[in-house]
Amino acid sequence: MPKYTLSINGKKHTVEADAQMPLLWVIRDLVGLTGTKYGCGIAQCGACTVHFNGAPIRSCSFPVSAATGQPITTIEGISKDNSHPVQKAWIAEQVPQCGYCQSGQIMSAVALLKTNPHPTDAEIDAAMQGNICRCGTYQRIRKAIKSAAGATSLK
Ligand code: FES
Ligand code: FES
Repeated sequence: MPKYTLSINGKKHTVEADAQMPLLWVIRDLVGLTGTKYGCGIAQCGACTVHFNGAPIRSCSFPVSAATGQPITTIEGISKDNSHPVQKAWIAEQVPQCGYCQSGQIMSAVALLKTNPHPTDAEIDAAMQGNICRCGTYQRIRKAIKSAAGATSLK
């Protein structure tokens, strides 16, 4: 089995895996970081979102063989104590219901605010449209993103 060295949350991890093993499997089962969730397995729900070189990717559909050479960040890597501004806004706005989709939602929101610190509603909707929430927390997600962005009007 080939070996791959990945940089996850600032730490190097060398894993033995089939080249096509999804990064999500590596993160959860081989490295033991279970904050990233499995939803659909076909890049349609966003539950498995992590950052690869700062950009959001669907780790369920991203082979480990393509995941070397650039930093990977999971939900565990954005803060140690829920102190990232997006996490604080999520808590303040009481966004999660069942919570299953939320680490993916937060990772997409963090990536959005990095490239666009003050997104409009339309820009939020466009950036977040691939993150499905069965509990329908979309309004609160939007509110929390605006709150994290320091927007003055929170509707
Ligand atoms: S589990 Fe990856 S997009 Fe749904
Ligand atoms: S909070 Fe339940 S699926 Fe989003």
